[in-house]
Amino acid sequence: MKYLIVVLLLVASLYSAEVVAVGEKYKSSSDCQACHNHLVKQWRESWHSNSHYKKDEYFRASVDYVSRKTHKSLNAIKVECATCHNPRISVTSTDTDYEIAAVLGLDKNSKVNKAVHDNTLNEGINCVVCHNIDQIHSELDASHRGMDRVSWSKTGLMSGPFDDANSPYHKTEYREFMDKNPNQLCFVCHANDHTAKGEAFINMQAEYKDSTEKCVDCHMSSKKELYAATLPIDHGKPKKRMIREHWFDGGHIKPMWKDALKVKAKVDGDNLVITLKNDLPHNIPSGFGSREILIEIEYKNKDKDVGVETVSLTRHYLSKYKKPTIPHMAEQASKDDSVPAKGEKKVKVKYYKKATMAVITVSYRLVNDEVRGILDLKEPIWKEKMPITKVSVRL
Ligand code: HEC
Ligand code: HEC
Ligand code: HEC
Ligand code: HEC
Ligand code: HEC
Repeated sequence: MKYLIVVLLLVASLYSAEVVAVGEKYKSSSDCQACHNHLVKQWRESWHSNSHYKKDEYFRASVDYVSRKTHKSLNAIKVECATCHNPRISVTSTDTDYEIAAVLGLDKNSKVNKAVHDNTLNEGINCVVCHNIDQIHSELDASHRGMDRVSWSKTGLMSGPFDDANSPYHKTEYREFMDKNPNQLCFVCHANDHTAKGEAFINMQAEYKDSTEKCVDCHMSSKKELYAATLPIDHGKPKKRMIREHWFDGGHIKPMWKDALKVKAKVDGDNLVITLKNDLPHNIPSGFGSREILIEIEYKNKDKDVGVETVSLTRHYLSKYKKPTIPHMAEQASKDDSVPAKGEKKVKVKYYKKATMAVITVSYRLVNDEVRGILDLKEPIWKEKMPITKVSVRL
């Protein structure tokens, strides 16, 4: 028995995140600007660079809410969420001693407090998150994510897609997850965040339909002939390379939504049946709980309005007291209402017999009314309707 416990403890310790400090020369994206400015500028516009308590109102309000509802210190929740949102943090867990110190206000000089307030975390998912990964442990079960799924390289070693790169500033090494198999890198974090009961609401790996399609093709850019570094390393000029831009555009970027779903409709008895078709390899909405697809139908007879119907495709979450709550705190979740990857969803709505035309507008919102209300989110982006498509159907 004793032997078994020792083995189990040993295995558990092998599987937990190991912190490797990032050297001062590499911590910030501005350290890369001298030679990779084009990529740094793109990345700075992405929401990867906003993944921090100080920069993302929705994230901040969620962390505050979880802390309040679980009666744990704010720093303890920041450390928990850092697993994926700020994985280069220098502590990976907090214990009851820390909680007591925090309640008594005696944690100012603690390791935890220093780690959480380290300025270089403000950059969210920055260059040394992805490019300092040595190995991705895909053999681990689905619950190991973010920093718990990777081991870091020594500081100053950049993993990349080239096996012949030379840089005077840092060492380089080729990795398959930067080249042939980049989805593996994205699934380090874009999978298996879950409710208090363990039900996943970020589930991109499980729902993914075609493993030959690469996330980076749509969310970074296709491969282009340009250069990886601006340093003149090739006979006095930057070396030409096939590279990918670093946009990481997604749900927050309006133009990305255009035509993300195809819409058809036909009358069936007392109903109008609307078919939404998703050609993407992941569901829509997806990525995070409480995202929403809104379908608004205006019925018209000539120019007269005859009626309006609205349908919301989203998920709702209940706390242990059966009150509406946010995804992380949920004990119960409504069924997944998203349009499946490479699939269709049919939605039935009331049909107004007098109507000769239906104008159907489909849009996307980052947060549904319920969660936006609970967290009292103020910035306009959270309720903005991002247009997907608008079709007129003769009835
Ligand atoms: C979310 C992960 C991620 C982050 C963050 C990230 N990169 Fe990359 N980067 C990649 C991937 C994946 C590739 C490989 C693209 C390919 O060739 O298929 C890459 C490729 C590169 C390359 C080789 C040239 C190219 O663009 O293909 C350089 C140089 C680079 N990144 C620098 C940076 C810098 C500098 C930053 C910070 C501003 C950064 N990266 C942030 C994932 C990331
Ligand atoms: C002084 C210039 C310079 C600075 C500063 C610099 N790099 Fe580089 N980097 C290079 C050069 C040169 C290459 C090789 C380009 C080539 O071979 O086409 C390179 C290549 C890379 C690659 C591709 C490696 C591979 O094997 O595929 C990555 C990733 C990368 N750099 C990341 C970074 C990051 C992250 C930073 C900031 C922490 C940074 N670099 C700072 C010059 C620099
Ligand atoms: C270390 C964890 C991590 C890795 C690795 C990672 N992501 Fe992310 N990603 C995040 C987090 C956290 C966010 C949310 C940031 C926010 O909204 O504050 C995010 C957001 C996004 C978004 C949404 C952006 C928007 O505008 O809505 C896209 C798209 C995305 N990531 C694509 C990728 C791709 C493609 C890869 C693989 C090359 C990848 N990510 C790798 C953690 C990660
Ligand atoms: C064929 C292109 C394509 C591929 C491949 C693809 N996506 Fe997407 N993705 C989209 C489009 C289009 C959207 C909807 C508009 C938007 O949010 O960018 C989207 C949405 C997203 C969102 C926001 C989801 C939401 O509902 O809020 C995230 C996060 C994301 N993708 C991550 C990924 C990751 C991670 C992969 C790989 C595992 C991936 N995507 C593969 C095209 C693609
Ligand atoms: C398993 C990795 C993982 C963990 C752990 C995690 N997140 Fe995330 N989170 C993500 C990814 C990936 C995204 C981006 C999904 C997307 O854009 O659709 C995200 C997005 C979010 C968003 C939406 C942000 C936006 O701008 O739309 C919020 C809010 C959020 N997370 C809160 C939290 C909180 C609070 C915790 C800790 C209790 C936490 N997350 C822990 C991976 C994780």
